[in-house]
Amino acid sequence: MSIDAIKTVAVLGAGTMGNGIAHVFARAGFSVILRDVEQRYLDRALETIGKNLEREVKKGKLAESEKAGVLTRFKPVTDMAAIAAADFVVEAVPEKLEIKRAVLGEADRILRPEVILASNTSSISMTKLAALTSRPDRFVGMHFMNPVPVMVLVEVIRALQTSDAAFSLTMELVKKLGKTPVAVSDAPGFVSNRVLMPLINEAAYCVMEGVATPEAVDAVMKLGMNHPMGPLELADFIGLDVCVDILQVLHEGLGDPKYRACPLLKKYVAAGWLGRKSSRGFYAYSG
Ligand SMILES: NC(=O)c1ccc[n+]([C@@H]2O[C@H](COP(=O)([O-])OP(=O)(O)OC[C@H]3O[C@@H](n4cnc5c(N)ncnc54)[C@H](O)[C@@H]3O)[C@@H](O)[C@H]2O)c1
Repeated sequence: MSIDAIKTVAVLGAGTMGNGIAHVFARAGFSVILRDVEQRYLDRALETIGKNLEREVKKGKLAESEKAGVLTRFKPVTDMAAIAAADFVVEAVPEKLEIKRAVLGEADRILRPEVILASNTSSISMTKLAALTSRPDRFVGMHFMNPVPVMVLVEVIRALQTSDAAFSLTMELVKKLGKTPVAVSDAPGFVSNRVLMPLINEAAYCVMEGVATPEAVDAVMKLGMNHPMGPLELADFIGLDVCVDILQVLHEGLGDPKYRACPLLKKYVAAGWLGRKSSRGFYAYSG
């Protein structure tokens, strides 16, 4: 398939990542079939997309007249059969192998043979997911960053089975979204989490051992290393439970004890201190 033949994209899952991915495709002129299991999730996603587009209008990045056009490009559906019209598909359902297996299997049976199936998984092996489908050579990872409309990077992950054609087409597609693709081979945590999570983990050890307060650790990294956010602020934003899960994937997948999750991170998760989403993590949040 050529890049110009891709006109309609299906996004599976309309949660945090799915609504952002749908947003950037529609913004770049693609028709978007957005699929979730219940209408209320689709309604919530379209409300979020509307607010985020409005923010772009206020910042002068999008004309008010264009906004209405972008909103007409979405087709929210609960029926998986509707994705048959898609020329490219991005899966962004929850990070559970069993859910991915069911969704990818169903999509694989519906889609035309030439259509590329991409996954936004942050920690499951792309090679394993590719092997669940009848199109492993047309399976690729598209690891968008949160919040998707704002972040420029997309890690494009090559599964063992991914063909050169499918890989280069996905790289091109990311450029069409106005984002920057970076080519990475399938390995636990890819590059983003393999480098970021040990940083967050070490920052947590500094707090646990009384080396410094969370504020001090974050100040060192922001003021001394020019990081826009401190590692512990970022951990609270990502979710401490998500950080622990990803560290476990690195630990098991790479077999090196240096990736074991800091006991303080695990203790916070056990207490329900998950970061911003639970109003408490390394920091306390109101509202
Ligand atoms: N949140 C992040 O910061 C982040 C960053 C990069 C990658 N990811 C990855 O993106 C994926 C999605 O994460 P998220 O944070 O958006 O999750 P989320 O829980 O916010 O959204 C998942 C959505 O999928 C829907 N869903 C469940 N089963 C479905 C099905 N059978 N068909 C269609 N939709 C279904 C859910 O109703 C929900 O709306 C995961 O693989 C995650 O690892 C997340």
